[in-house]
Order: sequence, then C-alpha cells, then structure tokens
Amino acid sequence: RQTLEDTLLAAIRTIPDYPKQGILFRDITTLLGNARAFRRAVDELVHPYAGTKIDKIAGIEARGFILGGAIAHQLSAGFIPIRKKGKLPHDTVRVAYSLEYGIDEMEMHKDAVAPGEKVILVDDLIATGGTAEGAVKLLRQMGAEIVSACFVIDLPDLGGRAKLEALGVDVRTLISYEGH
Ligand code: PRP
Ligand code: MG
Repeated sequence: RQTLEDTLLAAIRTIPDYPKQGILFRDITTLLGNARAFRRAVDELVHPYAGTKIDKIAGIEARGFILGGAIAHQLSAGFIPIRKKGKLPHDTVRVAYSLEYGIDEMEMHKDAVAPGEKVILVDDLIATGGTAEGAVKLLRQMGAEIVSACFVIDLPDLGGRAKLEALGVDVRTLISYEGH
C-alpha cells in the first residue's frame, strides 16, 4: 500500500514559473480531482479529532473552503468562512494580513463563533504564514479557542509554521516541500 505521503505527492501537480518566474506552484486541483487522494487527505486531517468535540471548522478562502467543508462534515462541526474583504454580507471583524508582496484584508462574520468555541483552522497550504496569522487573529478576537491549524502542504523554508507556533497555535501539516 502506498504511504499517505506518496499518495499526496503523486496527486499534487507542480507548475514551474506560475504565477511568476521562479515560483514552483503546488497545484492541489489534481489532488481534489483524485477521489482516493482527496479522501485520504481529509481522513488524515480529521483523524486526530475523532472523539473530540469540535464546534467549528474555519476555512480560509478560497482553497481552504473545499477542504474545510469536507472536514466539517466528517467531524459534524459547523463551518466558518474567512473571506477576502467585501464578500460577507453581515457585520464583520476585519484584519490586514501580509502577502508576499503587499497587504490585503480578510473578514469573518462577528457572529460566526461564540467565545470558548473549539475551532480548527484549515487551509490548503502554509507558506509565509501571513494568511493563517490573520485568520488566527480574527478567531481569537471573537474568543474562539483554536485547537489546531491544519494544512495539506507546508513550505517550511518560508517560516509560516514557526510563525504560528510562536503564537501558541498547534500546527499540523501532511506533507512538506523543502526549498519550496
Ligand atoms: C495561497 C494558499 C494559502 C496562502 C498561503 O492562497 O492557498 O491560502 O496562499 O500563503 P502564506 O502562508 O504566505 O500567507 P492565495 O492567497 O493564493 O489565495 P486563494 O487560496 O484564494 O487562491
Ligand atoms: Mg489560499
């Protein structure tokens, strides 16, 4: 039987020079389109929480929605969308976060989480950690207890995992590409 890591590495497509010269883009659309790989990734991400009461899964737009929805269903948890600014219709909390070049803002509905609720944060990939750090700030501002932050892919050389751990967040990733 193929190891989980082999299954995922074989299912993720790498595209050189996208979106710009010198970047190796890790494309998970091929993983999502592969029934076995998608199921194994979701199973592995939910496994540690079997038997634990998780109130909500927070998914980061856009690719974190796909994984987060599947994880929420499997854990019988609710789902919270964390979106790029201007997309959510009700009262929101907003935070600026750093991207590779420049900054952007993300938002969450103020009533999406109640103080003390146990939340798992989900995205496809962690690189510099700027995106996930923004999401952690929003969730904590509303009083959520972040149980873990989970990602399929870690690019450890970009320091995101260490950045989240320094904030006291438990980080879980399935595969990592050294040297990104
Ligand atoms: C990518 C990826 C993560 C984020 C990681 O999203 O899906 O969300 O970058 O980068 P960081 O750790 O350096 O912050 P992107 O901003 O490309 O948006 P998308 O998911 O909507 O395509
Ligand atoms: Mg993203």
